[in-house]
Amino acid sequence: MSALQRLPVPFVLVTGGKGGVGKSTLAANLAISMAREGRRTLLVDLDLGLGDLETMLALPEGPSLEDALDGPGLAACVRAGPCGLDVLPAANGAEALARGDEALRGRFVAALAQLASRYELVLGDSAAGIGPDVLAFACLADRVLVTTTPDVTALTDAYGLIKALDRYGERTGADVPTPELVINQASDVAEADGIARKLRSICQRFLCRSPRHAGWLPRSQRIARGAAGRPFALESEGLEVLCLRQLGLRLDRSLRHTLTTV
Ligand SMILES: Nc1ncnc2c1ncn2[C@@H]1O[C@H](COP(=O)(O)OP(=O)(O)O)[C@@H](O)[C@H]1O
Ligand SMILES: [Mg+2]
Repeated sequence: MSALQRLPVPFVLVTGGKGGVGKSTLAANLAISMAREGRRTLLVDLDLGLGDLETMLALPEGPSLEDALDGPGLAACVRAGPCGLDVLPAANGAEALARGDEALRGRFVAALAQLASRYELVLGDSAAGIGPDVLAFACLADRVLVTTTPDVTALTDAYGLIKALDRYGERTGADVPTPELVINQASDVAEADGIARKLRSICQRFLCRSPRHAGWLPRSQRIARGAAGRPFALESEGLEVLCLRQLGLRLDRSLRHTLTTV
């Protein structure tokens, strides 16, 4: 498998083994929160054939990723999101893009690397599972956030993803970052801490990896309502916003040495 072109700025991938655990919710709100802090941030929908960000953020219409890749380039596809955030939406229902084809992925990443130089930070919203796109984008990332809920199937799939990333790194020689955990839909901080500790100790025991607990989000109506076009990151108070701010601060701190402040 040929190596993908690196992005010229820090790249954070939000992923998770299972669908519906809140990857897109986390990626979109974290990106808005970074943009709100004044970071020139690009949010990229990396569920290339079946993207949700366009709907979730009620983005204005524009050329599709499929058209842009074959013609004017990715910049033509960028849409204005909230708080100065730029968003590169994916196609929805584009079977060719969903196939995880290596040549297409290489072409997409080369175009993304060019676009990324306009930003300070790129946040990617990944598809679920352990398909070739997910593994390849994780290798490209500086930080990988694995999202899970306390649900036992979500936890099993989060472990499965961390294990697959580990094996993929061994097999290809790629330098896959040790993933970090975000516990979504927890009832409180104690539950989130407990879940993260449990998953971490399983990873330590079987993979000799220690995924850090990067943060958590509560199960909340406010977050759920945000899926319909008004993301909760736009609010100014509440536990949800506090948790998001904490996640953003940690992310910012750990990336500061590589972020170029203009
Ligand atoms: N913390 C939360 N509390 C309540 N609902 C949530 C929370 N996180 C996500 N959701 C809801 O769960 C559904 C799936 O979330 P989504 O971000 O699309 O998951 P994924 O991208 O992992 O498939 C959405 O309807 C979303 O609003
Ligand atoms: Mg999603």
